[in-house]
Amino acid sequence: MCGIVGFIGEPIKGKIITGALKKLEYRGYDSWGVAFLSGKKITFFKAVGEINGIPKKIQEIKSGLAIGHTRWATHGKINEVNAHPHVSAGNKLTLVHNGIIENFSELKKELCSHNFCSETDSEVVLHLIEENLSKGMDLLHSVSKSVSVLKGSFSLLVFSSDEPDKLIAVKNESPLLLGISDKGIFAASDQIPLSSFTDKFVFLEDKDIALISKNKFQCFDFDLNKVERKILKVKSDVTSSGKLKYSHFMLKEIMEQPFVLRNALEQEKKIFNEIFLMMKNSSVFFIANGTSFNASLFGKEFFSRISGIFPQVIDASEFPYQVDFLPKNSLIFALSQSGETADVLDSVKKAKKKGFKIVSMVNVFNSSLARASDKVIYLNCGEEIGVASTKAFTSQIALLYLLASSCAGKFDSALTELKKVFLKMQQSIELNKNSIKFLSEKFKSVKDVYFIGRSLNYPLALEAALKLKEISYIHAEAFPAGSLKHGPLALISDGVPVIVVAPKDSVFSDTINNAIEAKSRGAFIVGIGDEENPVFDFFIKIPKVKELLFPLILIPPLQLLAFHTAVFLERNPDKPRNLAKVCTVK
Ligand code: AGP
Repeated sequence: MCGIVGFIGEPIKGKIITGALKKLEYRGYDSWGVAFLSGKKITFFKAVGEINGIPKKIQEIKSGLAIGHTRWATHGKINEVNAHPHVSAGNKLTLVHNGIIENFSELKKELCSHNFCSETDSEVVLHLIEENLSKGMDLLHSVSKSVSVLKGSFSLLVFSSDEPDKLIAVKNESPLLLGISDKGIFAASDQIPLSSFTDKFVFLEDKDIALISKNKFQCFDFDLNKVERKILKVKSDVTSSGKLKYSHFMLKEIMEQPFVLRNALEQEKKIFNEIFLMMKNSSVFFIANGTSFNASLFGKEFFSRISGIFPQVIDASEFPYQVDFLPKNSLIFALSQSGETADVLDSVKKAKKKGFKIVSMVNVFNSSLARASDKVIYLNCGEEIGVASTKAFTSQIALLYLLASSCAGKFDSALTELKKVFLKMQQSIELNKNSIKFLSEKFKSVKDVYFIGRSLNYPLALEAALKLKEISYIHAEAFPAGSLKHGPLALISDGVPVIVVAPKDSVFSDTINNAIEAKSRGAFIVGIGDEENPVFDFFIKIPKVKELLFPLILIPPLQLLAFHTAVFLERNPDKPRNLAKVCTVK
């Protein structure tokens, strides 16, 4: 889960590379580094932590060949030695890597004559290439021979001072694309850092090697057979770039949800009908991770209640252990904001080997998951930079509701209903933004927070708990409200906050009874819904909507609760510890 960037072309200033790298920080921010070809030698700089305090010399350096890396540590401690780029002993060869080399230990043993400086798997690739160069191969052949023995996921950028007119890119499982600009050719983990330089992209496929010079590129497979890769024009998403007036991307992305919902609803009815025809005689399995998994739980509820299709939901990291036992008429429905989550991509690959059809719902255009699918629905919710997913979640729920309704022949009416929710979502945010801030200040000193809900409110509780734990680091857990008495109630003692998701729906009174159970054992009860109740010690009021649309109104205040609690605890909600926005390793 790292971010890599590269460039070859007219000499540009170092700050262009570090600026592009900064936009990839949401992929990992444990350490960073850049390497430039200046004259006949390689100049490089590495540091632990976020991309800040860049030395003037690095910002001002002018170079026509450069690579950069921002790290989410997989192998090796977080320190400068393990930071990329890795550079050969003679400062002649350098490389950055995103992914995991699964057979690095065996390979390292075969390179016992080499001196390794770091604990990383990535450095093994540098020495492999160096070994092949020493046998008289040129850089392209050395890279081809080296990557052919690698197992695992790797996107690589490599250059050598001995062949200053070449940048080599390699893609396998981890994402990598080229950006064709008038300055030269960029390479990056995704479009975000390049969209200010170009709208022309080349999406590399697994087992691609790209030989790039300053104004052209050629793609090969790992055996150096030529392959064709098209240049695609992709409109950049300028609306969502930058934090605008907000302190953090996460806050901006929470607040823009009502507006984003309208874009998300710009969908082609034809695709929805085609997907219905694929689903109606299939055994449907949703697969996803994290927030997308929680969104899939709503998909199950919507389809079961509206369309008579009864999908199952499987965590994508567990799917590979179940794929062999699924029925022959299975259809896999993958949800992923990034479209690059390794667990999802690996599951889809295994599902395709079984001959199953793939439908996906993704946000990032032409992402690996989109390209691997038979049909794709795009969220159209703009770039989501905050590691904690917010606007993508509400867009996923809205589009799952629309798709389930479409399968019941109610596309138009559902679209009308969803377009009206825009105002209610806005009210839900505006009504509560101050009281939520007040409540979150109380939360900064709590150790545990529990969320409970019944029926549709249980997956909502799961998502609210995930938001709070992943950015505030407070232990937060969700339970079906009715399950408290089967064990979790033992966790409740005086003052422990229990957040009760209780809109006035068909399960309201049962949920209130569970809240009373918790309160009678000392819990501090926070209710969120459209109707107050004496059991609530604190009440978050939301506007009323139809039962199936309550999740869209309930989640924004709970996202804000997580955000403000994290800020009061002086965390960085955009870049929580140990996490990254895109999980490109299993
Ligand atoms: C959500 O807030 C988390 N950042 C994480 O669980 C995320 O939802 C998960 O990694 C899946 O990401 P995806 O939607 O890009 O596949």
